[in-house]
Amino acid sequence: MSRLRDRVAIVTGAGRGLGRSYALRLAREGAKVVVNDLGGGLHGERGDGTPADDVVREIREAGGQAIANGDDVADWEGAHRLVQAALDAFGDVDVLINNAGILRDRMLVNMTEQEWDDVVRVHLRGHFCPTRAVAAHWRARAKENPGPRDAVLIHTTSISGLFGSPGQANYASAKSGIATFAYECHLELNERLGVRSYAIGPSARTRLTESSPAAVEAVAKPEAGFDFFDPDNVSPFVVWLASAGCGAPSGTVYTVEGDEVTVVQPWTRGPRIKAGDSRWTLEQLDQAWPELFGQAGAHA
Ligand SMILES: NC(=O)c1ccc[n+]([C@@H]2O[C@H](COP(=O)([O-])OP(=O)(O)OC[C@H]3O[C@@H](n4cnc5c(N)ncnc54)[C@H](O)[C@@H]3O)[C@@H](O)[C@H]2O)c1
Repeated sequence: MSRLRDRVAIVTGAGRGLGRSYALRLAREGAKVVVNDLGGGLHGERGDGTPADDVVREIREAGGQAIANGDDVADWEGAHRLVQAALDAFGDVDVLINNAGILRDRMLVNMTEQEWDDVVRVHLRGHFCPTRAVAAHWRARAKENPGPRDAVLIHTTSISGLFGSPGQANYASAKSGIATFAYECHLELNERLGVRSYAIGPSARTRLTESSPAAVEAVAKPEAGFDFFDPDNVSPFVVWLASAGCGAPSGTVYTVEGDEVTVVQPWTRGPRIKAGDSRWTLEQLDQAWPELFGQAGAHA
């Protein structure tokens, strides 16, 4: 029950759903938790911060330590206030879980500019701003106090972002970008600052999935047996990644659903053709492409 004793964790969008489950589980394992949530409506409209306060109350009643923060994670100043709140309350930050999210599903031909911008903002910018704020703190900390650290970033991608999903061009594009962002964080922060960076694509029954007519039946609670889509099934893996000394290689991406964790294999270069020290002609390409795609097979 004390895997995360003395660690400070920020969880964004932790007033509900998956983030709430992570925050409660982190606190049970001894972490001091900053529960961020702007208390937004399903489509990202501002609320009253109540869900974050409720989670903090639940953690404290169980004997844990937590504070609430109601900032918008996609707001530059707000994200800096969030990290500062952790430093003021607990003196440091060891773990940032970027989880806050919204949906505005619509087929591409009907999607509005606002629907595109809102989703890309909350997810992609909402990952960048808190990460940027905490990374600046980690760099300053490393300068003041060189030595091994074990800081952790856990970002939230999704199966739509990794494999595509009709009606979610905004969401899938942002989530795909987040998987790449996780790898970028690994490249820039792992060796230099000792930060491990991961992305997970969860599946769970939350307000988000229950709002989607396509998903609501699929994630329903069964009358008996293992409740595959309970958000609490995702938390152990997230808490394990966040724990000090966890050996999961930095820069990796996972799907986490029910009782299953899958490593997602990254983009790789496939078969190739070469023109031979000269620029391709269109006629040569006419000739060569069947060979290229023949080699690539189903992977193309
Ligand atoms: N539930 C799933 O099956 C599933 C699948 C794939 C990915 N995800 C991702 O998991 C994350 C959590 O989703 P969930 O299903 O728990 O949804 P949820 O709606 O239950 O919780 C998301 C929380 O984020 C908060 N939030 C939204 N915008 C915010 C902002 N700008 N700043 C601060 N807080 C904000 C909301 O108020 C809400 O409480 C999201 O990133 C989502 O895209 C979920």
